Amino acid sequence: MSSPGHAARAAAATLLAGVLDAGRTLDDQADALASLAPAERARAQRLAGETLRHLGRIDAVLAPHLRKPPPAPARHALRLAATEMLVDGTPPHAAVDGAVRLVRSQRRATHLAGLVNAVARRVAEARDAWEAAPEDPLPNWLAGPVGAAWGLDAAAAIAAAHRRPAPLDLTLRDPSEAARWAEALAAEILPTGSLRRVAGGQVSMLPGFAEGAWWVQDAGAALPARLLGSVRGRRVLDVCAAPGGKTLQLAAAGAEVTALDVSPGRLKRLDENLARTGLAARVVAADAFGWEPEAEYDAILLDAPCSASGTIRRHPDLPHLPRDLKPLRELQARLFARAWDWLAPGGRLVYATCSILPAEGEDQAAAFLAGRPDARRIAADPKAIGAPVEWVDAAGALRLRPDFWPGRGGIDGFYATTFERAAPLRSRSKRPGGSTRGRLGG
Ligand SMILES: C[S@@+](CC[C@H](N)C(=O)[O-])C[C@H]1O[C@@H](n2cnc3c(N)ncnc32)[C@H](O)[C@@H]1O
Repeated sequence: MSSPGHAARAAAATLLAGVLDAGRTLDDQADALASLAPAERARAQRLAGETLRHLGRIDAVLAPHLRKPPPAPARHALRLAATEMLVDGTPPHAAVDGAVRLVRSQRRATHLAGLVNAVARRVAEARDAWEAAPEDPLPNWLAGPVGAAWGLDAAAAIAAAHRRPAPLDLTLRDPSEAARWAEALAAEILPTGSLRRVAGGQVSMLPGFAEGAWWVQDAGAALPARLLGSVRGRRVLDVCAAPGGKTLQLAAAGAEVTALDVSPGRLKRLDENLARTGLAARVVAADAFGWEPEAEYDAILLDAPCSASGTIRRHPDLPHLPRDLKPLRELQARLFARAWDWLAPGGRLVYATCSILPAEGEDQAAAFLAGRPDARRIAADPKAIGAPVEWVDAAGALRLRPDFWPGRGGIDGFYATTFERAAPLRSRSKRPGGSTRGRLGG
């Protein structure tokens, strides 16, 4: 049954079913890719990702050729074939043949081969229908709040940004080596300091990977940690650290970092990256609500769990997954309050989310400030991070949206803002955990 591309198509079909039928994220389905060679794995991920990115438009092209929704194996095989023909430009005979082989290879789906063959052939001739089909809009849960926050034009621009695959962004361990690595990687040096190159291929084969000269991190994701300013020699806590791009930044900048995260699985990626880059951090797998530090921190980064709505161009599965924002917002507020208690007087905390929803960014920051007389907002300095001034809002927070930098390949949506803790009126005698306070670093 094996034919060129079959293993990748079969894995892509499994990924699609995982997202659309079982509500699992693509990231959670590494098991579906485990047996594939790296090139096949990349192909499967790309095929499933592009299908999800254009799912509404693909289904609109398929619908006239289907009297009723076909069983899942045929539905997913046809979606993948449509992506191959209409998005990737794969020759129809290869895509149609691939789809037929795909259903024939699945138990209890072989009888669907005739249907898949007939419909996929029609889709091969549906280029006009594809051009006429409406582009996928923002998902409903995002369209309302995003339109209300930034207007309908911005909402349309964000939806357009989601339809374009994101470039590959890298953060350098040593920023002074940017020119050297940009040349070796055929990459652009962005004004913010990240390197950017066309995505695709095997990341681990790129120059500099083996020696740990860089790690993969969106240019937007690389900015929140930098709002802490100079952290050299400071005790810094990265509260929600995994998989650890920001921990690596803080360690590379000379901080004494503790990386805390509740997920041991996600922390494995951080361990691997620390080993590869030769950077050091104390990694703690624990729930922030059950853990206490030994002493207060000079600086804290709280990259709180969120809808990840700023990263849809990198995670096209997100619009298709069930979501409940209320518990996330509650968790963000609780983590915010908890982390604040671990901050030394005069220390700074950056609150960040990779969300384009004000409810997870602007509103959380405003509510926090209103309830904390010992907190004052520190405005982000765009020059210090190479960002355009308009990326800093009236309150002094960094607000990134995926429609920014359209000519450069976009940037993930993020919110990040800095608070400084006032010195206490009378000296505090307790440290977190109830024992005598002893601030380190400084
Ligand atoms: C947005 S991600 C962090 C991304 C990370 N800062 C980076 O740059 O790679 C949020 C993280 O919060 C962690 N998390 C969620 N609830 C937590 C809790 N109660 N205690 C500690 N970590 C938690 C999740 O496991 C997840 O890894």
